[in-house]
Amino acid sequence: MELLKVENLTKKFKKKGILFPAVSQVSFTLEKGECLGIVGESGCGKSTTANMIARLQKEDEGEIYFEDRKISGGMLLKPVGKGLQMIFQNPQDSFDPRDSVIEGIMQGAAAYGIYSRKELTEKALELFSYVGLKEEYQNRKIRQLSGGECQRAAIARSLICEP
Ligand SMILES: Nc1ncnc2c1ncn2[C@@H]1O[C@H](COP(=O)(O)OP(=O)(O)OP(=O)(O)O)[C@@H](O)[C@H]1O
Ligand SMILES: [Mg+2]
Repeated sequence: MELLKVENLTKKFKKKGILFPAVSQVSFTLEKGECLGIVGESGCGKSTTANMIARLQKEDEGEIYFEDRKISGGMLLKPVGKGLQMIFQNPQDSFDPRDSVIEGIMQGAAAYGIYSRKELTEKALELFSYVGLKEEYQNRKIRQLSGGECQRAAIARSLICEP
């Protein structure tokens, strides 16, 4: 089954009044159970492509289908739901610094209101060992983690939704 289909995705950014292409006519498909890596030099448009798929940025042109449902063209964020989760490039900036590590991980699913607080806590604690994060860090603040530990917390936050 085709999980994700991207067709002719294009995005331009304005710099000093001039439009620069960040993503030009990008097309690919991702099958269910498959892993896809996108490789390219710094600034070639990888994050912008991911942001458009996650509906955090709007495309200028092109189409995105997730589970055969068109998610491009319309509004941002909502149509994708918990099935598609993002792990951001800069982990520290992707958390609310006021949150404890466990609260940050639970935030991912809390937004969807599908699990009770008790269920969320249980799921979060299971994920600590799954991503290789010490459970004793659960009440620390995010800024008290190393960059790598913080990215592990971000991975746990995305997995808690069972995407
Ligand atoms: N919000 C923005 N406004 C203006 N230009 C942007 C914006 N976001 C990205 N760009 C530009 O678009 C291009 C693509 O950026 P993008 O972040 O997608 O690159 P990347 O492939 O993820 O790079 P890296 O490997 O360094 O993370 C770059 O030239 C960048 O400067
Ligand atoms: Mg990037």
